[in-house]
Amino acid sequence: MMRWCVLVLIGVGLASQAAGESPRGRGSDADGLTVVPLAVGQEADPPQGDERRAQRTEKQRRPKGDAAERAIPPDVAALGRLSWVLGRPTDRSVTVSVLFAGGLEGYCEYGIASGDYTRKTGMVSFSPGKPVVLVLDQLSSDKQCFYRLRYRKPGEGAFVEGAEHSFHTQRAPGSTFTFVIQGDSHPERPQMFAPSLYAQMLRAAATDRPDFYVTIGDDFSVDKLRTINADAVRQIYLNQRYFLSLVGRSAPLLLVNGNHEQAALCNLDGTPNNVAVWAQNARNTLFPQPVPDGFYTGDAKPVEHIGLLRDYYAWTWGDALFIVIDPYWHSPKPVDNVLGERKKTRDMWAVTLGDDQYWWFKQTLEQSQAKYKFVFAHHVLGTGRGGIEQADLFEWGGKNKKDVNAFAQKRPGWELPIHQLMAASGVSIFFQGHDHTFVRQQLDGVVYQTLPLPADPYYAFYNKDAYRTGDAFPGSGRVRVTVSPQEVRVEYVRSYLPKDATPEHPNGEIAFAYELPAGTKAKAQHPARGDGATGARPTPTISEVTTERPAPTT
Ligand SMILES: [Fe+2]
Repeated sequence: MMRWCVLVLIGVGLASQAAGESPRGRGSDADGLTVVPLAVGQEADPPQGDERRAQRTEKQRRPKGDAAERAIPPDVAALGRLSWVLGRPTDRSVTVSVLFAGGLEGYCEYGIASGDYTRKTGMVSFSPGKPVVLVLDQLSSDKQCFYRLRYRKPGEGAFVEGAEHSFHTQRAPGSTFTFVIQGDSHPERPQMFAPSLYAQMLRAAATDRPDFYVTIGDDFSVDKLRTINADAVRQIYLNQRYFLSLVGRSAPLLLVNGNHEQAALCNLDGTPNNVAVWAQNARNTLFPQPVPDGFYTGDAKPVEHIGLLRDYYAWTWGDALFIVIDPYWHSPKPVDNVLGERKKTRDMWAVTLGDDQYWWFKQTLEQSQAKYKFVFAHHVLGTGRGGIEQADLFEWGGKNKKDVNAFAQKRPGWELPIHQLMAASGVSIFFQGHDHTFVRQQLDGVVYQTLPLPADPYYAFYNKDAYRTGDAFPGSGRVRVTVSPQEVRVEYVRSYLPKDATPEHPNGEIAFAYELPAGTKAKAQHPARGDGATGARPTPTISEVTTERPAPTT
């Protein structure tokens, strides 16, 4: 059996280096951050399907990996002592989650001019390893705001002043702004993830100055853990938080649930001791996520041992409506992989958003007058492979595997399947992950945008056979979206390790780009334009989609 111990070593390596220990250390460091020995003696199941293909690819390209690329970058490791991330941006506030490894006290000061902090939060105590939430409020809408932390050891007089960062409150209609999305990061899979490349991509994303940063799921996989308990699950969220802090200090993080999180209804057992409760509580403790209030709408139904899930939610920003949806917390059966088993759910009608989410989704779409509407989910139906290839199936499109429309029978009372609802209500782009490659497709005026891996050091071309049409590209990187009153511009910004970048394919090249003019829903396209790169190829209009694909970068 192929052993994948190195894979979990990466996970523990981050926590251990952050705590100043060797990668195999265990216990607590002097500042109190618990280091969970995930790596010791663990081995994972052999990879399946696309993972097995990736493994072969990895073997072929083995010389590309080296110790430096596998090491946790020093700036990420340092975040183990102090990290903070933003979340829940509104028209007048943002929420900061601060986590110190040592016992300190402090506060945030903030204002709308750099270096001129006219407001401050109250003084709070930071207990080792326990995140503290600070709300920077009473701000004006549509403003760039600046903030910094001030902290000290209890009883000491002088404060340490942290570096200044900025964020933006809700944009007014007619504004131009940028947001960035990453696909499945999979830090537990060395065949898909290099820490140095991930950190490099996140630092670059911060320079895009996005108003927020969206992750599409499979960023907190618990599947590779041999022993699953609250501490081990929380450590996975901590490890990811250190990385995401690189961009999350200045761009609020908005998370989408994935299948490998195992934060799912089917895993509940009526007690607080199950993976779904551990995962969702770790997520909600370490990442401030939206709850229904005067700014956001979303999941208002508390779950025992968790409270509000914060798994589906919507908000408006500038001329755009943003909606995050989640099937995992609302399907009575496992949506994709069953934790600890290889079987999968056979009855795909058991995969559902559920009544509450469906009617909220429908109402949110239909009541919005936004010029652009963006929907985010881990994948069509939360499982399967492909984009529009899956869009006519089950709850998403109404048909069963025999091409018979069974929607009225299977979803009595529902008006339209998910895809038809999105098309009818003018959704501009549906963003999904799961397939680990960049693909742009369109169906009935809705763009289906599949996201690439952010930090695959082998730049592989995953699951390309699952896509029969569209513009597909291999490799690693982020998707940057610029929203303006005239159009939405979507760019695939590729990332290359320094030794892999070339004059023809530099780090940061725009591998592909397209624009959606306001009110036309994905009709006009244009050739991609690189930042001096020549890797882009002419692109037909999306109605002339091509199956021609560029060769994978080696
Ligand atoms: Fe994934």
